[in-house]
Amino acid sequence: MDRFVINGGVALKGEVAISGSKNAALPLIAATLLTAERCVIHGVPNLSDTRYMAAILQELGAEAKFEDGTVTVEAKRIKTVADYDVVRKMRASFCVFGPLLGRHCKAKVSVPGGCVIGPRPIDMHIKGFRALGAEVDIQKGLVIANAKELVGNTIFLGGRFGSTVTGTANVMMAAVLAKGTTVIECAACEPEVVDVAEFLNKMGAQIHGAGSPTLTIHGVEQLHGAEHTVIADRIEAATFMTAAAITNGDVRLKGARAEHLGAVIDKFRESGIRVERSGPDMVVKGDGVRKPADVVTMPYPGFPTDVQAQFMTLMAVTPGISVITEKIYPERFMHVAELGRLGADISLEGASAIVKGVARLSGAPIMASDLRASAALVLAGLVAQGKTKVNRVYHIDRGYEKIDDKLRALGARIERQKQ
Ligand code: EPU
Repeated sequence: MDRFVINGGVALKGEVAISGSKNAALPLIAATLLTAERCVIHGVPNLSDTRYMAAILQELGAEAKFEDGTVTVEAKRIKTVADYDVVRKMRASFCVFGPLLGRHCKAKVSVPGGCVIGPRPIDMHIKGFRALGAEVDIQKGLVIANAKELVGNTIFLGGRFGSTVTGTANVMMAAVLAKGTTVIECAACEPEVVDVAEFLNKMGAQIHGAGSPTLTIHGVEQLHGAEHTVIADRIEAATFMTAAAITNGDVRLKGARAEHLGAVIDKFRESGIRVERSGPDMVVKGDGVRKPADVVTMPYPGFPTDVQAQFMTLMAVTPGISVITEKIYPERFMHVAELGRLGADISLEGASAIVKGVARLSGAPIMASDLRASAALVLAGLVAQGKTKVNRVYHIDRGYEKIDDKLRALGARIERQKQ
């Protein structure tokens, strides 16, 4: 298991290229199962999660190749069963369900396991598949669906915590080959869902309204092969924005899509960070007077839960008191105790963190617990005095392409140690 050793205190400067979005790439790769023809997806970040998704497709019988950021899939004949051994390592594996059901009117996929960021149910996915006419049952840890044919319907996909990102993508992927018209209400508006809809339309689907809460899908007989490039990763971009801000640096984020980062940019500016658009890039400068900011996470276009931990690290060293409220995963605070080990002053009140900015953090050994919490700890290490050792960085390797190399190129003193 690798760990990062970080010597904090360097203001980051220079340029960093933002990779393709993990959370778009995963359902995009799954969507290729909807056709027997060849699909090519460019700009796929080389991560353990994306490699795993390509491996699942191979396991299902597709030819899937992942080379130099391009995934090529030919799913001529596929199995419709993905059991626990195949999917257990990654919740997003469940994204193959919609394509399998859409193409073959049946699917059997292991129920995704628990997750350190809190409960992650799939009831809304199942509700959507049922509304399309599938009989869905859970038996022996498998979600089993069968249908004579899928038939379009109006489906409300909102839950206690709002819309569902992979649920919307999954039901949309099943509905593209259903008979008639499907309307998904309270659909997730995240750019990753829009990217999947765009790819499906290139494959011949007829999806309208992507990016709005109402998706209208006119079912088609079949889809064909297509080529697509994944959108830039807005969460990676926000993480590097934080790295620039927290170190009082000056960083150009190449290819970052500012239009996907409205809520994040707004909060950064409120906290005194300079954020500018510059052609296709963004430039972030942390040289201003910093101020605390209150944040509430929400579905897109609100402030993303996937940036909550990183923003909390920034607020931990910003004078004043900030309140950060988590509305998507009310238990997603694994980073709080570890930040405390570096000297941060953060207390939890239900789903809110009260963050009292401290003058400095001081390096210590800490433990990464999940992807975004790990990113928050690395950010803390960049600004902490002395040496911070972040253990279990395999979490971060699931979602950040070469984060250590990218930070080093900006001047950070970060080393990967094999243990
Ligand atoms: N929910 C339900 N029932 C469902 C599905 C979701 O109650 O059937 C609840 C969840 O428990 C949560 C809320 O609805 O409270 C939103 O969950 P959502 O389904 O949108 O999450 P997801 O699709 O499983 C994706 C990202 C997550 C990101 C969330 C929220 C992927 C592969 N994962 O998960 O990303 O946090 O949307 O934006 O796209 C990450 O990248 O670190 C990560 C965890």
